Amino acid sequence: MKPRKDLLTIGDLSTEDVNTILDSATAMKDIFTKSVKKVPALKGKSVLTLFYEPSTRTRSSFEVAAHRLSADVTTFTVSTSSVVKGESVHDTIDTLMSMKMDYIIVRHKNSGIPAVIARHCKAAVINAGDGAHAHPSQAFLDAFTIREKYGTVAGKRVVIIGDILHSRVARSTSTILKRLGAEVAYMGPGPLVPPQAYTDIPRFTNWDDVFEWKPDVIYLLRVQNERIDTPFFPAKDYHQAFGVTDERLRRIDDLNLSIMHPGPVNRGVELCDAAMDYRNSLICNQVENGIAARMSILYHLTPQTQNND
Ligand code: CP
Repeated sequence: MKPRKDLLTIGDLSTEDVNTILDSATAMKDIFTKSVKKVPALKGKSVLTLFYEPSTRTRSSFEVAAHRLSADVTTFTVSTSSVVKGESVHDTIDTLMSMKMDYIIVRHKNSGIPAVIARHCKAAVINAGDGAHAHPSQAFLDAFTIREKYGTVAGKRVVIIGDILHSRVARSTSTILKRLGAEVAYMGPGPLVPPQAYTDIPRFTNWDDVFEWKPDVIYLLRVQNERIDTPFFPAKDYHQAFGVTDERLRRIDDLNLSIMHPGPVNRGVELCDAAMDYRNSLICNQVENGIAARMSILYHLTPQTQNND
C-alpha cells in the first residue's frame, strides 16, 4: 500500500488498499488471543480522539485499538472544552497540533470537516463520521465481519434497510461492499432512499421484495431522528413497515440469514428484542471486529509529523 496520510472516505482508496487493510485486520485480531494483547507498532506516537458528536463504539474502539498498538491516547471532550465558549474547529486544531499529535480521529456533524482538518495539519486524520457523508472505519469493520462469516465478500447479497439518505454508514458500507464484489440493495421509506436515477443500487419498498431478492445479510440502519427536523415515522409504525418484527425474524431464521446493525440499536424500532439474541446476529462481532479494523487503519496511515530521531 502506497503511503497515505489520511482516511477520509472509502472512495479515496484503491481496491488493493482496501484488501491490504482487511488482511492486516485479520493479523491484528490474532493479537486478541495472546496473553499480552499489545504490540509496539505505534510506540511513542500520540493519538487524539476529537468527537464533536456522541459515540460509544467508534471512539472507544479507536482508543482500545491505539492502546493495543502502544500509542499514547488523548481524549478531547467537546462538552468540557473551550468549544463551548465559542472556539472554532480551526483554532482548536491549531491548539491541539501545538501538542504534536500524530493521529487525529475526528467526528463532526458537518460533512467535510475531517477533510478540512486533514488539509490543515500534518497529523494523519481519520474520519470517524462526518454528517451524512462518510464513516469509513465502520465500512471496514462491516466488510471484515462479512468476510469472516462467509470467507468472502464477493458474491454476497446485502440489503441495507432504513434511512439511507441521512446515513453515512449506508454510503461508506455500500461503497466498500460493492468494491469487494458484493451485491447491495436498499430498502426503506420512499423519501429516505436515494432515487433510482441517482444510484445503480436496486431499491425495494417492502420486505416481500427483499426476501424474494434472496439476501445473505439483512443490514439495519439506526433511525437518525437527530438528522431529521421532525421524526418522520412514529416508532411503532416504522417497526411494522421496515423493522425486523418477531414474524420477520422467524422468516430470517428459516432462511438462515445474518443480521447486522452499526449500533446503537433502537430496540422495538429497527429490531424486535428477540432479534438482539438471534443466533445469526453479527452485531457483537461487528463491535469486536471494530478494534481489529481500526488497529489496521492506524497501522497503515503515515502521519507527516516531524521526526527528530
Ligand atoms: N456505529 C457507530 O458509529 O456507533 P457510535 O455512534 O457508537 O460510534
